[in-house]
Amino acid sequence: MSGARTILTAAVLTGAAAAGGCWQGSPAADVGAPSSLAVELSEGMRRALLRHSPLPPPPPDPTNRHADDPAAAHLGRFLFFDERLSGNGRVSCATCHDARHEFTDGLTLAEGVGTGRRHTPSLWNVAHHRWLTWDGRADSLWMQALDPLEDPIEMGGNRADVARLVLEDDELRGAYESVFGALPGGLEEAASSPARPARRGEEDPPASVARWASLEPAQRAALDEVFVNLAKAIAAYQRTLLRGDAPFDRFVESLRSGDGDGLAALSPDAQRGMALFFGRANCVLCHSGPNFSDGEFHNNALPTLHGGEPVDAGRYDGAGVVKASPFNAAGRHSDAPDGEAAAAIRSLRRSSEAWGEFRTPSLRNLEGRAPFMHQGQLQDLAAVLEFYSDMAGTTVRGHHQEQFLQPLRLHEREKADLRAFLSALNGAPAAPELLEPPTSPRFAPSEGRLRPR
Ligand code: HEC
Ligand code: HEC
Repeated sequence: MSGARTILTAAVLTGAAAAGGCWQGSPAADVGAPSSLAVELSEGMRRALLRHSPLPPPPPDPTNRHADDPAAAHLGRFLFFDERLSGNGRVSCATCHDARHEFTDGLTLAEGVGTGRRHTPSLWNVAHHRWLTWDGRADSLWMQALDPLEDPIEMGGNRADVARLVLEDDELRGAYESVFGALPGGLEEAASSPARPARRGEEDPPASVARWASLEPAQRAALDEVFVNLAKAIAAYQRTLLRGDAPFDRFVESLRSGDGDGLAALSPDAQRGMALFFGRANCVLCHSGPNFSDGEFHNNALPTLHGGEPVDAGRYDGAGVVKASPFNAAGRHSDAPDGEAAAAIRSLRRSSEAWGEFRTPSLRNLEGRAPFMHQGQLQDLAAVLEFYSDMAGTTVRGHHQEQFLQPLRLHEREKADLRAFLSALNGAPAAPELLEPPTSPRFAPSEGRLRPR
């Protein structure tokens, strides 16, 4: 970092010590005025800052025993970009989660085989989320990956075609078997024509649904096994999509160590924005923790994309779906059916309060991710801050309304400061190989473990 070594004030030093165990230096050193602190940090705010950095490794996912297996992640990276998994052979996960576009698509609503009803979220740091998708209808990355593969408007594929691809492509089959062991017996027959279960609310199901109904339980189990294992490989890849190491992290590291050099990582504007974020604007009420999301669901009463009343039930639906799914953490495909995530599923209750609630997004790496919100209804960060400031156009708020949000009435200066702070949450670029498929699905250990830079 540029600038002379800065020495923090006594208050900063004691704060770091009080925050517990992080302080390594000697607070007895000469204490002078900090040259790079543009705002006064209260004791409480300093403690809060220390809780928000660094971004730790993602929590383990015991429901997927291959979650951190480099060979599974390698296969998953191959599959993520593979359009052959889709019904029309033209859509992959990367079609919407475009690696050159921060793993989103720049569109308001997602476009796959058809047009979706929600905006494509970025996948950076996705392994930090406890519930996946805007409505939390998946409780693991592998459970989530199953859904777009068969969703008629996303990839429009089916688990039999996907299994047949693995059977018939020698490289893919080799890669699969080296991670998961031999393909289940009887797969050839089970996968001989398209088959998948009916989807919720599906009118006019295709022939593949009748075919699924006609299969023996053992055949269905074989198809499910391959389907789930491929999803577990894709999940392992997505766990490597990590980006921390933002200017904000260098700033906090500097607070923690007492070495003032990193304080300059945040401009005075960004520091004022930070003080607002953790202070008067209280964004941290929901955007909390090192990934800047509380992992919970809230109803911000946003105006809808096309005007009119909201019709998306959000978490109310999502909670019901994840609880009923055979692919949740408590189900038989989970590698930890008695673990913590399974307990969370068993105790999950669907409440009418959850109608219209959506999961708090992470605010790390917002750059290049516009438009924002679950329908992509806000075009850019200026529009987001305008919304939090005035809450203009909020949808009619019944008893479901989010009690926390009030118009902040931000001055232009304050909006600029908040934007400067949000920019300081953009992490260092990820390793370039994360952004493209490997040439072969087979893992050569010499390729090493995928790690962000
Ligand atoms: C047609 C575009 C499209 C395709 C193809 C697609 N996705 Fe998505 N993805 C979305 C949208 C839209 C959402 C939000 C869904 C919702 O909330 O209902 C989403 C959500 C997600 C999430 C949850 C992110 C979060 O923050 O909770 C993950 C993970 C994900 N997708 C991974 C995948 C994988 C893996 C594939 C391929 C197997 C895939 N997606 C294919 C559009 C797409
Ligand atoms: C009451 C909880 C809550 C508070 C307080 C809050 N947010 Fe949010 N934020 C959310 C939720 C929930 C969403 C997603 C809403 C949706 O799509 O319906 C969101 C979305 C966003 C997004 C869009 C991210 C994306 O990927 O689309 C940004 C940016 C954002 N908030 C910034 C802020 C800032 C800055 C503040 C303080 C001025 C703030 N938020 C205060 C809960 C909150």
